[in-house]
Order: sequence, then C-alpha cells, then structure tokens
Amino acid sequence: MTPERKAQLELHNGLLAALNGSVVMAMGAKLVGLSVASVAPIAAPLGVAAIGGLVWYGRGSGIPDVVKPQQPDPDKGFAVMAGRTKGKRPVWFSLGRTAPHMMIAGSTGNGKTAFAEYVLYTIAHQTQRFDLKIIDLKEKASFARWARLPFCSEVVGDPKEAQRVLEEARDEMRRRLRILNEARYNFQDDPYFEPLVVVVDEGSILSRYPDALEPLHDIAVIGREPRVHLVYCTQHPSYKIIPVEVRDQFGARFVFHLDEQSGSEVALGKGDYRAFETLSVPGRCIYKAPRVDLEMQVPYIPTQQIVEWIKDMADTSGGRGSGPSAPVTPGNLPGF
Ligand SMILES: Nc1ncnc2c1ncn2[C@@H]1O[C@H](COP(=O)(O)OP(=O)(O)OP(=O)(O)O)[C@@H](O)[C@H]1O
Ligand SMILES: [Mg+2]
Repeated sequence: MTPERKAQLELHNGLLAALNGSVVMAMGAKLVGLSVASVAPIAAPLGVAAIGGLVWYGRGSGIPDVVKPQQPDPDKGFAVMAGRTKGKRPVWFSLGRTAPHMMIAGSTGNGKTAFAEYVLYTIAHQTQRFDLKIIDLKEKASFARWARLPFCSEVVGDPKEAQRVLEEARDEMRRRLRILNEARYNFQDDPYFEPLVVVVDEGSILSRYPDALEPLHDIAVIGREPRVHLVYCTQHPSYKIIPVEVRDQFGARFVFHLDEQSGSEVALGKGDYRAFETLSVPGRCIYKAPRVDLEMQVPYIPTQQIVEWIKDMADTSGGRGSGPSAPVTPGNLPGF
C-alpha cells in the first residue's frame, strides 16, 4: 500500500471514530502531499467533506461515505441490501438468485471481510436454513468466533483443511446433481436443497495449492443448480487463481480499491482500471453483475455488534457450532 493510501485510510477511520462520538487527533497526517496538523473534534453530519480546510475525497460523488445496515427482514431470505449509490439509493443483491457466487476484491483494509460478515449476518437474521463453511486462510483470525453459530459447520484456517472442505463441498454438489438429474429424468419436480455457502477469505493464499483450486473452480462452474454458493474474497485478483472463465461465474463482483492495475482488470474486465484509479473510501466499491455496473458504498456493522450477536446465539443454541476441536481424553471419546 502506498503511504498516501495508508494516510487516506487512517484519516477515513479517524473520521468514522469522530462520527461515532469520540475525538480524533490525527497529528501530522498527510493527504495528497498536504499536511494536516490536527483534526479537532469533528461534530459534523455524515457526508461532511472538509477537514482542516482540505477537501475530503468522497465529496461531490453523491455517494454516502458510511452506510448503515438495513434492518434484516425474515421474508427476504438470502436478499441483502448490498449498498447505497448516488442519492443514497439502495442496491439489493441475493446470493443464489442475483448470482450463484460472489467475489469481493480489494486491497488490504478496504472492507472485504467486513462486507462478507455483513452479508452473512444479514442472511442469518433472515433465514438459518443453510449450511455455512468458512475457509479463513488468515489462520481463522476474522472468523474463528463464527464457529459458535449453529448453522456454521466448519471454520478452517489452513490450506490443507481448505482443500478438504472444498473437496467435500464438491462431493456434496455432485451428490445433489445426481439426485437432480434422476428427478428430471423421471419428469419429477426438482428436489429442494438447502443452500451450502462456502466462504473463502484471502483466496490468493490458495495460489500455492493447486489441489485446492481444482474443487474451487468446479464449484464456481457447476454450483448454481445444486445450490452450492461461493463467497470469495481476495486482495489480489489474478487469472492464475481465478481464470477468466471461472471469474465469469462470479455473477456478482464487489470490487473495492485495488493497489494494482492488473487486479482491477481481472476483477472488472479488460482495460477497466477503475478499482485502481478510484474508490478511495473503505467500503466504496464497484458492483458488477449482469447488466449492472454501479459505484456504491456497502453497509458497515461494527465488529462489536457481530461479536455480541454471536455470543447471544451461542448461548441460546447451547453452542452447537463446530468450535475448536476439544482435546481427546478418555472422558470425551465416544462410548465413554
Ligand atoms: N463499509 C465500510 N464502511 C466504512 N468503513 C469500513 C467499511 N468496511 C470496513 N471499514 C473499515 O475498514 C477497516 C478494515 O476492514 P476489513 O478488515 O474488512 O478490510 P479487508 O479488506 O478485509 O482487509 P484485509 O485484506 O487486510 O483483510 C474496518 O475495521 C473498518 O474500520
Ligand atoms: Mg480481511
């Protein structure tokens, strides 16, 4: 990340803290070569665009810099208010219906994990009729607590485990396809399958593990009908990991700022450098889907709110989630 970009992010996060009621003193922070000696208490409404006389980078676009989550609605199932565009117009997205899989791309600190968590949090408030498997290749740093949720059957953190989870998801996909094909052969209605959602956070780590990429690609290409859906997050979109024909299966792509032109092209399309040249606010992205190309700000839920919710769910469900494996002692071996 360039020093200018780092300063932008720090300033943005400072503004967020200020908007949450605390005081920010960003001593000596630099923005576009200018020095901001101090950012005094900012008691300003959302969207204010001047700090110490400097023009804030989100100004004029008409897109809000911070978006509150939409209240979850049990009737909406997998549909999520994915962001707000100019004039705060809401943009809706439904994993499985809008697109079989979603890709969330962006350099570090731009809000990929926060957005993935927001999407899962919202879906989980609307329906829990799905199975969630999370591959958090940053050694489970973000998602370890999700294992406490009753509908989350796996949270794994290393590439070998990732390969196993992806292979098992592919096996399940093939099993469902056999059932589906048999039903169709017999002129029966399609059977209902509960969605299986597989999250991969920091997919670029898989570049060194081709055996894990193979099932990932198979699911991307075939997962739609058997309802096996990917939520794929990456800092470094690359054709080496996601070849173009696989990329095109990610019908919904949420592309945050990227530090490389090549990544922007992979995520958005040939010659499209917008993710490199624009999108300077965390949570600001280009949403690309069939016949959709929008710049918007995705909603943000503070981590603490997610932690509280998981804690409540774990307490009320009796902690049925997978959790870290317990040490094996004679006392907890089956049959004792
Ligand atoms: N939608 C948003 N609106 C406002 N601020 C946000 C938003 N999303 C994230 N942020 C801010 O950016 C920070 C970094 O977000 P997050 O951890 O999701 O980034 P990331 O892209 O996953 O980074 P990395 O690639 O390093 O894992 C958050 O802690 C939060 O302060
Ligand atoms: Mg992250």
